[in-house]
Amino acid sequence: MRTVYVNGDYLPENEAKVSIFDRGFLMADGVYEVTSVLDGKLIDFDGHAVRLQRSLDELDMANPISKEDLLEVHRELVRLNGIEEGMIYLQITRGAPSDRDFAFPDPETPQTIVLFTQNKPGLADNPAAKKGMKVISIEDIRWGRRDIKTVQLLYPSMGKMMAKKAGVDDAWMVQDGFVTEGTSNNAYIVKGNKIITREASPDILKGITRTAVLRFAQEAQMEVEERNFTIEEAREADEAFITSASTFVMPVVEIDGVALGDGTPGHVAPRLREIYLDESRKAAG
Ligand code: PDD
Repeated sequence: MRTVYVNGDYLPENEAKVSIFDRGFLMADGVYEVTSVLDGKLIDFDGHAVRLQRSLDELDMANPISKEDLLEVHRELVRLNGIEEGMIYLQITRGAPSDRDFAFPDPETPQTIVLFTQNKPGLADNPAAKKGMKVISIEDIRWGRRDIKTVQLLYPSMGKMMAKKAGVDDAWMVQDGFVTEGTSNNAYIVKGNKIITREASPDILKGITRTAVLRFAQEAQMEVEERNFTIEEAREADEAFITSASTFVMPVVEIDGVALGDGTPGHVAPRLREIYLDESRKAAG
């Protein structure tokens, strides 16, 4: 049984409780972060803490915990649960007022903060990275502020189910003819030495992994182009891949039933995965 963190307490998971009036539950009025753990250490905690603050600011929500205390809670959960490889999920909501109301509650309302670990042995050595993944394209009908990491994940969740139904691994979402991102990851195509990904805007979540991978790519003399691309362009690309805190860099080998190149991961995505894992491990804390 896991030990989780709720509002200042470390508790067995079956004793952790949140109110039925919680704004996260009733209104999806909450934000979250997922930080990966490798070798028992946190990957890019700083990046996640900065994005968390930005999400809170954009929603006019207070931050109930200092960055130092948040780091301490992450480390303590890793220790208490003996996590070598996996993830830490963090969620902050606007708390639980005494009744349901569309208006934000009094700012004095205590917020809800929850963290739990997800143990994933073999996360870095994931065999899926050698095979690559298959995606379908679906319409992106999410709200207009995808740059804020809110807990309203119903459409991404439905997208994942559409992918499952189609017998593939994930879905790339398309808006006005251009790929935005995957259901829970950023999307890229590769042409020659060039990596192409949509530019950061309210249309996508600016991944912490994305920032790191684009930097490593440039340091490795690869060219990075931040621009829109279509599914048609992606299907003719040499390679494609996704990035996220839970998948790192993962090759994509098929889009809407069309194999990319020879249908195997190629060179660029596996190399970026290796560089990302090496560099992140070195910098982990
Ligand atoms: N998802 N885009 C979306 C829509 C995401 O949900 C995520 C992360 C990303 C990648 O961000 P990062 O590199 O910071 O993980 C992009 C997390 C992993 C999740 O929901 O589980």
